Amino acid sequence: MADSLSVTDNRTGNTFELPIVDGAVSAMSFRQMKTEPDDFGLMVYDPAFKNTASCRSTISFIDGDKGILRHRGYPIEQLAEKSTYLEVAQLLINGELPTQVEHDAFRHEIRTHTFVHENMKKFIEGFRYDSNPMSMLISSIAALSSFYPEAGEVSSPEVRRQQLIRLIAKIPTLAAFAYRHTQGLPYVYPRNDLSYPANFLSMVFNINDVNHTPDPVLERAFDVLFILHADHEQNCSATAMRVVGSSQPDPYTALSAAAAALYGPLHGGANRMVLYMLERIGSVENIPNFIKKVKAKEELLMGFGHRVYRNYDPRARIIKGLAHEVFEVTGTNPLLDIAVELERIALEDDYFVERKLYPNVDFYSGLIYQAMKFPIDFYPVLFAIGRTAGWLSQWCEMLTDKEQKIARPRQLYVGKGVRDYVPVSER
Ligand code: CMC
Repeated sequence: MADSLSVTDNRTGNTFELPIVDGAVSAMSFRQMKTEPDDFGLMVYDPAFKNTASCRSTISFIDGDKGILRHRGYPIEQLAEKSTYLEVAQLLINGELPTQVEHDAFRHEIRTHTFVHENMKKFIEGFRYDSNPMSMLISSIAALSSFYPEAGEVSSPEVRRQQLIRLIAKIPTLAAFAYRHTQGLPYVYPRNDLSYPANFLSMVFNINDVNHTPDPVLERAFDVLFILHADHEQNCSATAMRVVGSSQPDPYTALSAAAAALYGPLHGGANRMVLYMLERIGSVENIPNFIKKVKAKEELLMGFGHRVYRNYDPRARIIKGLAHEVFEVTGTNPLLDIAVELERIALEDDYFVERKLYPNVDFYSGLIYQAMKFPIDFYPVLFAIGRTAGWLSQWCEMLTDKEQKIARPRQLYVGKGVRDYVPVSER
């Protein structure tokens, strides 16, 4: 057999032929390798899933060595240049770019679902004024579940579709309300005459101007940023969405778990950590000392490195270009000089070259957000808005995949053997 792997179990001398399909062997095929009939069989051990494919997917393709990202076959560069976030959302969810009629209908549906129940406002008001906006977003997404009890019928395509529209439409509203709450500003209701990114910017920044329209450069920049964050195959938060979704709760509950996974500083929370890092470095002269600490493993160079990319993250390259367009409108960000010099030094340094560490999506995005006057702790929220379409496509794909079941890994138990309970007086 050509596409197969021969494995000899040296404990027994038995040889097994494992078929190779789509570049992988099935982990279950190792279970036939036993030392005796009632032996459980061999398992594969892979902490952090570094070499384990957990699904077949047709959504996003990454070639980490070449720095390639495609959604449903379309290069990210083309989508960022020519498409819109809502069109990319349809592409991710349905598998094809929509026709004009399909897109108009989708946009109409999104625009007519942007409002949230008034009680959601009261829910958000319950947070302290200085709450982290990501905690507010995660909790309020989970809270939405209680308003749509039918959403638990996840086997119904119509019910799934309805929640998908609601989530894409309402997350910018929740995000903007969280922002306004932390600023002590009145909440601004959605404007359904505006585009998806313009409506979001209006809900965030509009102060008492009914005709407020965001600058078109910033509106387009946000559409591109949402596109660049829309999906990234089986990352930590997409995996959380699939794992939680596999026990079949409603998608609000699963998506709040995905947003929680995104929040961490090693994932979507890295964009805010980059800004804190740049502020801490303070000036270009301090960079060599900072790099020394990184190489001594006392610091991480935030916004650098990636589990999959061993080359420049294509999204980082686009964002770097976008930053200059935004700065034309907002004025430049003084931290840009530090970031550019940090990147230049890191890309020439053996430590980073040997480990193939390059800037990722989070390295330059925060500079744009800061120039637009978003508070640093709000950056992961901006990531979450864009990633919503990806989480939902991954969730739908998982639910309709006949090979999927409730996610439940195995473990290698390396703890104590059986022993008798000892009363506290004898310990
Ligand atoms: N700064 C310094 N050293 C690093 C970094 C970094 N940012 N990233 C990896 N390394 C080193 C790491 O210490 C290890 O060195 P050694 O071989 O001497 O032990 C080597 O590079 C391999 O790294 P790893 O930890 O095995 O890589 P990983 O695939 O487990 O981690 C990562 C990937 C993204 C968590 C990691 O690169 C990192 O912590 N980066 C900083 C946080 C960040 O920017 N996260 C955003 C990721 S992209 C967008 C997203 O997911 O949201």
